[in-house]
Amino acid sequence: MVNIILLAGLVATTLAADLPTQPSSALAYSPPYYPSPRIDGGGDWKAAYQRAKAFVDQLTLTEKVNLTTGTGWQSDNCVGNVGTIPRLNFPSLCMQDSPLGIRFGTYSSAFPAGMNAAMTWDRELMYLRGLAMGEEFKGKGVNMALGPVAGPLGRHPEGGRNWEGFSADPMLTGVGMFETVKGMQDAGVIATAKHYIGNEQELFRQVGEGRQWGFNITESLSSNIDDRTMHELYLWPFADAVRANVGAIMCSYQQVNNSYGCANSKLLNGLLKDELDFQGLVMSDWSAQHSGVASALAGLDMSMPGDVTFNSGDSYFGGNMTMAVLNGSLPIWRVDDMATRIMSAYYFTHQDKNFPETNMNSWTTDDYGYLRYYSKEHYGLVNKQVDVRGQHHKIIRELSAKANILLKNSGVLPLTGKEKQIALFGSDAGETPYGPNGHPDRGGNDGTLAMGWGSGTANFPYLVTPLEAIKAKALQLGQVVQSVLDDYAYSQIKDTARQASVCLTFVSADSGEGYIDVDGNRGDRKNLTLWHNGDDLIKTVASTCKNTVVVIHSVGPVLLEEWIDHPNVTAVLFAGLPGQESGNSLTDVLYGAVNPSGRLPFTIAKHREDYGVKLTNSSTVAVPQQDFTEGLFIDYRHFDKNEITPRYEFGYGLSYTTFKYSHLKIRRLADPAGYKPAKGMQAKNDAVSKKLDPADYLFPKDFSSWKVGNFIYPYIKSVSDVKQGSYPAPKGAYDTSAQPVPAAGGAPGGNPSLYENVYEISVVVTNTGKKAGEEVVQVYLETGLADDPKIVLRQFEKVMLRVGESKTVKVKLNRRDLMRWSVVKQDWTCTEGKKVVHVGCSSRQFALSANLA
Ligand code: NOJ
Repeated sequence: MVNIILLAGLVATTLAADLPTQPSSALAYSPPYYPSPRIDGGGDWKAAYQRAKAFVDQLTLTEKVNLTTGTGWQSDNCVGNVGTIPRLNFPSLCMQDSPLGIRFGTYSSAFPAGMNAAMTWDRELMYLRGLAMGEEFKGKGVNMALGPVAGPLGRHPEGGRNWEGFSADPMLTGVGMFETVKGMQDAGVIATAKHYIGNEQELFRQVGEGRQWGFNITESLSSNIDDRTMHELYLWPFADAVRANVGAIMCSYQQVNNSYGCANSKLLNGLLKDELDFQGLVMSDWSAQHSGVASALAGLDMSMPGDVTFNSGDSYFGGNMTMAVLNGSLPIWRVDDMATRIMSAYYFTHQDKNFPETNMNSWTTDDYGYLRYYSKEHYGLVNKQVDVRGQHHKIIRELSAKANILLKNSGVLPLTGKEKQIALFGSDAGETPYGPNGHPDRGGNDGTLAMGWGSGTANFPYLVTPLEAIKAKALQLGQVVQSVLDDYAYSQIKDTARQASVCLTFVSADSGEGYIDVDGNRGDRKNLTLWHNGDDLIKTVASTCKNTVVVIHSVGPVLLEEWIDHPNVTAVLFAGLPGQESGNSLTDVLYGAVNPSGRLPFTIAKHREDYGVKLTNSSTVAVPQQDFTEGLFIDYRHFDKNEITPRYEFGYGLSYTTFKYSHLKIRRLADPAGYKPAKGMQAKNDAVSKKLDPADYLFPKDFSSWKVGNFIYPYIKSVSDVKQGSYPAPKGAYDTSAQPVPAAGGAPGGNPSLYENVYEISVVVTNTGKKAGEEVVQVYLETGLADDPKIVLRQFEKVMLRVGESKTVKVKLNRRDLMRWSVVKQDWTCTEGKKVVHVGCSSRQFALSANLA
């Protein structure tokens, strides 16, 4: 059953909680939201905005257009570049992947994936990872780094790019976004939160890819998301990114409620720029733009990589935007706003001072090459091979070690160092025969897995394999080391395993971006099982080895049921995607230098069906529809609601020590019901349009002498092409009158009173074991309302405790933590009902609970 609530022009779809039926996709409709809100320097943005405005004020129309438009795929050094402003000596801005380091970089680091950052549940490490990555991007002269990721969030456990992001929980992802954005931008690079929004699977995100797999689709998949789910689940971590002052947001390929992510006025103008008061720029994902004026009016600010399709030589923006302004279909104030948003992000991160020139190139790792790679022009020094790694290997190793999640341990870990013979099994223990960068964009899995595939990758400067690191350690200790890396050499495996004191068995599961198919996995995983018959490998080892320790390198949850209860499987570590220091960080944990303190950022189920939601992996219709009928109930919320026992629940993870919780106290800091809806009007749009002479924007006379092939330019061909008139536009798109501030808006991240702390929770945690270690104190909220998840994560804190030590851990809950989105009021609202706070070490192991009063 679907309720359609019609409200002052807004259509909001809510799912009645007790009637879980299929909404008719035809109802998935995205309401228009115009005009596009202009940047106003709110929050911390005043100084940057003022400088940006002054800068943009002196620009000609074509110079402004140049800031908004990419120069075309492979036309410049980076995966995306905008045009230059030669008159002011203003260089091209460079946008470069990825969320875990510099894609195509040389002498740069391969950081652990976003998922591993989330696995640490450690805010400081998340920040430091962001800072270190930011330093590297800046060192290469990259203006905008294309990360972090909060879409996909993880609706589907098979989602190909879940590992690029953080967690299937919005709160944990929100913290990952916040800390990463802060870190990156503190280093002076503009962070790009992506993919906004609802980009939960790879298949059907783009028509071309879908067709390549034989599906006769005409438009991208539509993620059909109701208003409440949008606010409380998918938008939540983006709100945190905006609150952290993220400078850029990348809109996604697929449609949301049957309107493309990069032309969806409700998402861009409405939620992002009005409600969240986002002050930065919206850039398109690469070729995710499908219109010119319509996208601009809907809130798109930058076209990436600029051309309509890769290397087409034409653009929806570029000269067409100049034309649109001249013929009256696009108001100049919208172009000014785009340029001002771009320049505000630039000034906000202080890129006007000592920012290095881009000194890397995406299309070759050689020193010399074509700057205009596609057209093979401008040959010269393109890679200065600047070593930007600094001491980042330390944070990489520390974070990866602390990300390790100990799933099972019968006491065999940590290793004592006195085991006589260590054996390692599986291709995942060693190096791929092609070298760590041997598969383009890491599209292969035949050695140890340390990142997934696609654009979310970086080149490895080196990759320390588990075999190398463990061998080095074992040799120091005088242990014997044997290894069989062929996953199928069962007879050698059994023989070796029989003699070993401990059998470290390495297994993996990989996924990535949809343009690469690895072994039938078209980005998304085709199943949740281990690759290379990992289950059989483990069972073979365990058949002759009484001490089988399994290490899993994986992009997300995998099914463990075939062997998890096997008595010879004595310990299991989930290591995720650890990046370049893989083997070292693992050795730190195996030998006990680091006490594992990772916790699951998703649920590990017993069976695939237990997750409920399914990928849309076929389509008989021209426009695939994906109805998010489960609403808020993904991952642990679904398991709780349906009383399904997972194998390992969200938040779970063991330690080499034990902890005790006591003295739970709750202190009220402010009135939880004291939320104040924002009021008033935004400033009037006082833009004056000067009369522009089309003749000023023609291709320059000497153009043929410097033209670059397939490059996107901002000029028009002929004055007679400019046909002024009245063009159709969405209602209100040209409106320059003052607009009301949305009740839920008023400052970057949304209404400031949402973020006022209202309760302080304190609890005493004691290390009751025999080893120093870190505990992740998790705070869950239960509202008791039938249409809410049973519990939701609302806070966490990681704390280090020596043996016997006790510490008081204090965390705060703010109003947003306690409120719900009302589709009727179009605002956050307090709910009735007794709220209970549960504190413990996972989403199913609560040590203490108390009422919120
Ligand atoms: C497409 C991917 O979806 C996006 O994440 C990436 O930043 C761009 N390509 C540029 O490579």
